[in-house]
Amino acid sequence: MTHFTHYIYQWYDQNQRALPWRLTRDPYLIWVAETILQQTRISQGLPYYHRFVGRFPDIHSLAAAPEDELMKMWEGLGYYSRARNMHAAARMVVNEMGGIFPQEYENLRRLKGVGNYTAAAVASIAFGKPYPVIDGNITRLFSRYFGILEPADTPKGKNTLAGKTREAMNHSDPGYHNQAMMEFGALCCVPKNPSCHDCLLKDSCFAFLNGMTGLLPLKNKKIARRIRRFYFYLLENKENIIIEKRENADIWRNLYQLPLLEAEEDLADAAILSNYLTRELLAGEKPAVQKISNTLRHELTHQIIRAKFVRFKMPKLKASGNRIIINKKEIHKFAFPVLVRNYLAGTVDK
Ligand code: ADE
Repeated sequence: MTHFTHYIYQWYDQNQRALPWRLTRDPYLIWVAETILQQTRISQGLPYYHRFVGRFPDIHSLAAAPEDELMKMWEGLGYYSRARNMHAAARMVVNEMGGIFPQEYENLRRLKGVGNYTAAAVASIAFGKPYPVIDGNITRLFSRYFGILEPADTPKGKNTLAGKTREAMNHSDPGYHNQAMMEFGALCCVPKNPSCHDCLLKDSCFAFLNGMTGLLPLKNKKIARRIRRFYFYLLENKENIIIEKRENADIWRNLYQLPLLEAEEDLADAAILSNYLTRELLAGEKPAVQKISNTLRHELTHQIIRAKFVRFKMPKLKASGNRIIINKKEIHKFAFPVLVRNYLAGTVDK
């Protein structure tokens, strides 16, 4: 065993967090945990994990779940395609694989939404197979310690990193090894201001020895973020409002929202209050009250949403197409994007 792995295992034995999926080898539970934890911190993901496996304790209950219920369970976690893909994968396991979770890396990869990371995590943690996982924590830890100077978001950088993680792999307990590496990256070799002076690896850490901790891992590209302008319409009549389901291939697919106008440019108030959508929504009725919110900014990985909410108090409501009229008391039954949920909480819930 190298100094690197030896020290990290020792640290992990003393400092690992007690996490529920560390007490099981059930591939279903590990798959659920690892899917929730992609792009999500453990503190945020943990309550979702408990609710999820409480309601869907096995692959059969997940495969049989109504999609709206699944989306509701995912509400607030973001990257909603994870939930849709899990549903499809669960159905595939039940319908095409006799309800038995695949064990082999290549078969795990065939499940919808299961990429290299999740396949390696499930194969190693549930089945003890020596596939190294590569996530953000491991990329940072390995880039710093081994001094990987090729940008981590290029094929060359990825290749070098993959090679290093394969070399470091411990074949006697791959699941333990992977989790120790991730945990050390998440808690010690943190992105900002890591406490290198207390780290027993500092004497052999390339980044520490070269004053490059703040620079590694290198990245080539800055992600370009698209700016989108959303105008949401809250039409209220006494206890009722109108909502609709997002059905297109876009962010928040299969979540609910208020009727939405997307514009290429910022709209002036006159255009916000009168356009093809408002004419359709108002259906000839005159709102008793109309109010436009400030612009709310909502940041996603690849998009920045600039949203305004328009509130119309209506003498009556008419919903057509994929829109439905619901009582405000029913809002909690539907999954909304956080942006819409927060607006609703500040208006109709009060
Ligand atoms: N991040 C995602 N999955 C993890 C795991 N199993 N252990 C530590 N950190 C993680």
